[in-house]
Amino acid sequence: MANKLFLFSSLLFSAVNLYFLASPSIAYELPPNHPVPPETVCKFTPYPSSCKSFLPNRTANVYDYARFSVKKSLSQTFHFRRLVNRYLRRRTVLSQSEIAALEDCQFLAGLNIDYLTSSFGTINATRGALPTWKTDDVQTLLSAILTNQQTCSDGLQSASPSGSVRNVILAPVANDTKLYSISLALFTKGWVPKEFPGAAQKKNHRKLNQRLLLKASSLIRRGLYDQSVTKRKLLQVSDGQSKVLVADVVTVSQDGTGNFTTINDAIAVAPNNSAASNGYFVIYVKAGVYEEYVSIEKKKKYLMMIGDGINQTIITGNRSVVNGWTTFKSATFAVVGPGFVAMNITFRNTAGPSEHQAVAVRNSADLSTFYSCSFEGYQDTLYTHSLRQFYRECDIYGTVDFIFGNAAVVFQNCNLYARLPMTGQFNAITAQGRTDPNQNTGTSIHNCTVKAADDLASSNGGAKTYLGRPWKEYSRTVYMQSYIDSVVDPVGWREWNGDYALSTLYYAEHSNTGPGSETAKRVTWPGYHVINAADAANFTLSSFLLADNWVPQTGVAYTSVEVTAGLEGPCFGEMEEGKDCGFDSTFRCNNYVSYADLVLFVVLLCLFSVVTNNDGLPIVWARGLFTRFRSWRFVGLARLMAMQGVW
Ligand SMILES: *[C@@H]1O[C@H](CO)[C@@H](O)[C@H](O)[C@H]1NC(C)=O
Ligand SMILES: *[C@@H]1O[C@H](CO)[C@@H](O)[C@H](O)[C@H]1NC(C)=O
Ligand SMILES: *[C@@H]1O[C@H](CO)[C@@H](O)[C@H](O)[C@H]1NC(C)=O
Ligand SMILES: *[C@@H]1O[C@H](CO)[C@@H](O)[C@H](O)[C@H]1NC(C)=O
Ligand SMILES: *[C@@H]1O[C@H](CO)[C@@H](O)[C@H](O)[C@H]1NC(C)=O
Ligand SMILES: *[C@@H]1O[C@H](CO)[C@@H](O)[C@H](O)[C@H]1NC(C)=O
Ligand SMILES: *[C@@H]1O[C@H](CO)[C@@H](O)[C@H](O)[C@H]1NC(C)=O
Ligand SMILES: *[C@@H]1O[C@H](CO)[C@@H](O)[C@H](O)[C@H]1NC(C)=O
Ligand SMILES: *[C@@H]1O[C@H](CO)[C@@H](O)[C@H](O)[C@H]1NC(C)=O
Ligand SMILES: *[C@@H]1O[C@H](CO)[C@@H](O)[C@H](O)[C@H]1NC(C)=O
Repeated sequence: MANKLFLFSSLLFSAVNLYFLASPSIAYELPPNHPVPPETVCKFTPYPSSCKSFLPNRTANVYDYARFSVKKSLSQTFHFRRLVNRYLRRRTVLSQSEIAALEDCQFLAGLNIDYLTSSFGTINATRGALPTWKTDDVQTLLSAILTNQQTCSDGLQSASPSGSVRNVILAPVANDTKLYSISLALFTKGWVPKEFPGAAQKKNHRKLNQRLLLKASSLIRRGLYDQSVTKRKLLQVSDGQSKVLVADVVTVSQDGTGNFTTINDAIAVAPNNSAASNGYFVIYVKAGVYEEYVSIEKKKKYLMMIGDGINQTIITGNRSVVNGWTTFKSATFAVVGPGFVAMNITFRNTAGPSEHQAVAVRNSADLSTFYSCSFEGYQDTLYTHSLRQFYRECDIYGTVDFIFGNAAVVFQNCNLYARLPMTGQFNAITAQGRTDPNQNTGTSIHNCTVKAADDLASSNGGAKTYLGRPWKEYSRTVYMQSYIDSVVDPVGWREWNGDYALSTLYYAEHSNTGPGSETAKRVTWPGYHVINAADAANFTLSSFLLADNWVPQTGVAYTSVEVTAGLEGPCFGEMEEGKDCGFDSTFRCNNYVSYADLVLFVVLLCLFSVVTNNDGLPIVWARGLFTRFRSWRFVGLARLMAMQGVW
């Protein structure tokens, strides 16, 4: 009898399991595997008519259309790069600023070829769904090719090219932008769940619901002074809590006591295309002022650069747009190599407010982390250009648009200092540059402090300071649980130009404190929101950047705590956000359990009570199954069952 029941419940569980594993696709209006004519899928892209004109005129499913589109994007990008190369060979007919802008385009097209090749490899190798992290990787890369294209286009436009460059280069740039946007839309349609990208992941981690504070700084330091470090090829430094894999350590010191005297020399010996599993190539940069323009190329992967502290190890430069550089090239420190980590370093651009755009750090490195670093500049200090980035316990100083770009980026426990700009200017802390509604990018500021720097605080009259302004149409910025000082104007946010982007942008505030955090006098744009904990949770490190997959290996401390103030519990049916749950008022209603799930739960409950009367085994097995459920509905159910004393 017990065996039969076991078998029956086993079957039921498999069925249930299948149903819920398949549930993300149920959320689509259109099953991705279903063949449809091109105009049906094109409706979901920002450019339906361009989409229809290049997709093959036959029925296929979303996956096939996406593959086709990404492949087409790749061939168009090769084509575009050849065009740029041709132009650059005829330098004599070009102005200095045109050459500079074209070089940026050449570089960015090279990155796009890599990103498209990698994306195509992933989606060509699968017939259907992908794991969450892979979906996020591809969405990130396809978001970045649009950003790179935009950067190329912006650079060319501000170089005010002559007629011929304008027509021959800018036209395909605009044309390819549409194609990239369609590729991203089709990929999103086919693979990205309707639910906020990180939501499934977040719910999966919710049961931890605790702070993970991994302090690796001290142990890396110990590693540095441990002579055995450089002797063994792979050293696993561990304090029992976290592990940082170190492949090699070199020291940079200006007094000649290290392996090198300049940072660029140290970077040159770092291995090419190293894998994360080999561990970090650590460059320890001793205290000193390094007047170097540092560039970490794409093949220098998993570099970790550690200084002696903010104001001790300083990397400085003074390139600016007024001095003839593009914004992109003005950076004192630029990084593209994925997996980059920096700690305890000050990065500066000293060009000053009158030199306009002058970047201290430009970061286009995927899965990059800056911990305990300082970024000092005026206009455009920190260019969070593209891909996924995390900043923890950093100080960022600047005036106009001083944190700008189109990465998916989270700032945790940072200090944002507004400085005194030029007369007549105002400060915008952020100028987020999202251009496409399907990009997974945005700037999330969590548990930070926004204050005036000394020069602004002591100035008479000073200048107005805003939380952000929309550099591009789909600009997205969130401030949560942060301290906002009186330096921020009561309206909070500033227009870019008239009503540009005001209804397409997404600006949100959640649970901020301080005299500048009062939202009563804030702008009333359609895209501005004061959000609740459930929405804010989408922009935490764990949800927005799926950080639990990659930050731990850096050893950098981070908070994966939920934004929610109280505990969360499941509620039944359609209930209001934030409303107390009927059965227990200490639980806030942030998870909804549908009536269908409730019926399911009752069936399972009955089943359990029968089965568990016989032996304890099914419980163990069922518990194992539950822990595997990624669907939030099951987290809710499991919690409900726990409350009912099922286990
Ligand atoms: C696509 O094919 C169908 C039937 O094969 C035809 O009726 C239609 O005109 C075609 N559309 C285009 C845009 O070529
Ligand atoms: C794409 O996948 C198909 C079938 O799996 C394979 O034959 C083809 O070589 C792949 N294309 C590329 C460019 O990898
Ligand atoms: C524009 O893009 C389409 C594909 O989307 C391509 O076939 C066409 O050649 C492109 N035109 C130019 C001028 O690049
Ligand atoms: C946050 O994620 C939830 C669940 O995916 C979604 O319903 C909600 O719209 C998201 N909120 C925002 C502001 O993106
Ligand atoms: C960073 O610098 C501070 C003080 O300068 C020091 O206490 C800390 O150990 C350093 N961290 C690392 C990782 O070197
Ligand atoms: C760096 O210097 C240390 C100590 O002087 C030495 O053991 C190590 O081999 C050097 N590493 C490189 C890459 O030169
Ligand atoms: C990395 O590749 C470059 C050529 O692209 C080569 O010159 C250099 O020696 C390589 N570095 C290492 C450490 O292998
Ligand atoms: C670095 O120096 C500046 C100027 O002296 C000072 O305001 C700041 O607090 C210092 N930062 C740290 C982390 O010591
Ligand atoms: C930039 O810094 C260099 C080196 O310190 C200096 O020689 C140069 O005059 C500076 N340029 C400007 C415009 O400040
Ligand atoms: C928020 O930041 C402050 C100061 O940076 C820090 O002391 C505090 O622990 C942080 N809170 C959380 C929850 O991480």
